[in-house]
Amino acid sequence: MVPLSGLPSQVKIVEVGPRDGLQNEKTMVPTDTKVALINRLNDAGLSVIEATAFVSPKWVAQMADASDVMAKITRKPGVTYPVLAPNLKGLEAAIAADATEVAVFGAASESFSQKNINCSIAESLDRFRPVVDAARDAGLSVRGYVSCVLGCPYEGDISPQKVAEVAKALYDMGCYEISLGDTIGTGTPAKAQAMISKVAADVPIEKLAAHFHDTYGQALANLLAALQMGVATIDSSVAGLGGCPYAKGASGNVATEDVAYMLNGLGIETGIDLEKLAATGSWICDQIGRSSASKANLALAAKRESNKE
Ligand code: HMG
Ligand code: MG
Repeated sequence: MVPLSGLPSQVKIVEVGPRDGLQNEKTMVPTDTKVALINRLNDAGLSVIEATAFVSPKWVAQMADASDVMAKITRKPGVTYPVLAPNLKGLEAAIAADATEVAVFGAASESFSQKNINCSIAESLDRFRPVVDAARDAGLSVRGYVSCVLGCPYEGDISPQKVAEVAKALYDMGCYEISLGDTIGTGTPAKAQAMISKVAADVPIEKLAAHFHDTYGQALANLLAALQMGVATIDSSVAGLGGCPYAKGASGNVATEDVAYMLNGLGIETGIDLEKLAATGSWICDQIGRSSASKANLALAAKRESNKE
């Protein structure tokens, strides 16, 4: 077998299902179901699980139970449970809920910034600075997201230069990792590489994460392209759940099961128990009445059924 070049030996997976995966669900998911999902993901070996979002409930009602979710989950040593915090109010609530890591979220598109967080890119960066400072003073780590890195639902193409500027601003203000969001999943591999190479001129590549939605079925290909450039952190969502309420037409994140299957095949360590993860994917889909968007999940579920016969 000819090995693929440039791949990292280990990849950190940031499971965003409980937050990105559920935030777009119109029917309220019971808090206990969210808690059980996080505990099951824990049990399947995920070591970073984005648990919820301390955002305005008027903007995203599904995340209104953020404090309850944080209070009820069983926290395992060595596992982190980051949460979104768009402003000081969100940060205060996150700290009160014993969060140890928060994420601020900006965008490389002016229109998306306005629709998602009700301010311009420049205003968002001014708003994030005191959040990052206060979080770090309180001993929390801070992650920074940049949305629309490969396209915007309102503006279309976004220049890699703009992505790099926002990523650098977040990194310079103290975010330890910058997650690059293909919010609407329109990217393709060469475009992803061009964008990452521009960002990596300003932010060390080992500090970058790939957060790719799978609307056009390109996410795994884009991830492989990113891995070959040295990106070693991947955001994904169990069963491929997800979408952003302020990005119409966007579908779920790349499925964690599919990412884990691909990484296993590449001989890259993830620490994930794929069978347990796939069972969790099937379980959460049953709970919320959706079918899984993960091919690996469907294949493993079919195999489980045929083994029973
Ligand atoms: P705003 O309306 O401009 O905020 O919203 P405001 O400061 O004027 O406050 C308005 C009301 O919201 C007030 O309440 C505040 O107290 C309350 P009122 O006085 O009217 O009763 N409020 C809050 N309540 C709870 N927690 C808070 C909070 N802040 C204000 N933190 C704001 C600005 C940023 C708050 C709002 O736009 C918001 O919450 N947006 C979040 C939208 C969101 O969560 N989108 C999805 C996540 S981003 C995403 O999915 C992309 C990502 O996955 C990467 C990718 O895929 O690209 C990360
Ligand atoms: Mg997202």
